[in-house]
Amino acid sequence: MTTKGPIGVFDSGYGGLTVLKEIVNKLSDYDYIYLGDNARAPYGNRSFDTVYHYTLDCVKWFFKQGCSLVILACNTASAKALRTIQQNDLPIIAPDKRVLGVIRPTAEVIGNFSETKNVGVMATTGTVASESYPMEIAKFFPGLKVYQEACPMWVPLVENGEFENHGADYFIKKNLHNIFEKGEAIDVLLLGCTHYPLLKEKIEEYLPVAVKLISQGEIVAESLANYLQRHPEIESLCSKEGIQKFYTTD
Ligand code: DGL
Repeated sequence: MTTKGPIGVFDSGYGGLTVLKEIVNKLSDYDYIYLGDNARAPYGNRSFDTVYHYTLDCVKWFFKQGCSLVILACNTASAKALRTIQQNDLPIIAPDKRVLGVIRPTAEVIGNFSETKNVGVMATTGTVASESYPMEIAKFFPGLKVYQEACPMWVPLVENGEFENHGADYFIKKNLHNIFEKGEAIDVLLLGCTHYPLLKEKIEEYLPVAVKLISQGEIVAESLANYLQRHPEIESLCSKEGIQKFYTTD
């Protein structure tokens, strides 16, 4: 008999806490275990192979903690590792367990926020290079134009606690300038990295007034609630004492 366990929430570092916060707001009864791979963050500029191996290590760790459901809150891991883990690893190592990502739930709804049908995605270099957002969004909103901008300095600013300082302004202005140069008609800007909501206040200072800034936390929480409803076989394996535990690899 499989015993109940917490829902695992994974990120390369601290950023996933922005997602966990919204999940707990929405689904407060469940137990959660958070792991940030701070020892090896940032993931954003690493190869597919490296992100895959790091993520798989962490997924196995969650399974050892008794999780039947793991959310890869990290966009980079969702872009570069999720599919291989779901298709190649899970059937062998844990056929009854599930690993979900954040890109698909975001792609399912992002087009609903845009009137001009032009969306900008700010993300890590790895997420942008994977083309996961344009590909996933095209499945749900075929007419939507998607522009991407890699922001390789934004995660280090957050992980080093520099996100409220003047140095952050320089890089935020620069990347915003670049994305609006690519897509003038963008009216929705997605923060496609869990760390970026921590830069929200500064981003808003430099954002054109008519542009909506979208963070993923609430979208992912809504999608998880929906998933648990549709999958009672997984839901029944998630313990519910309202306990949250936090771990980091460094
Ligand atoms: N937080 C991760 C994401 O959502 C990436 C951060 C990193 O580069 O490690 O993409």
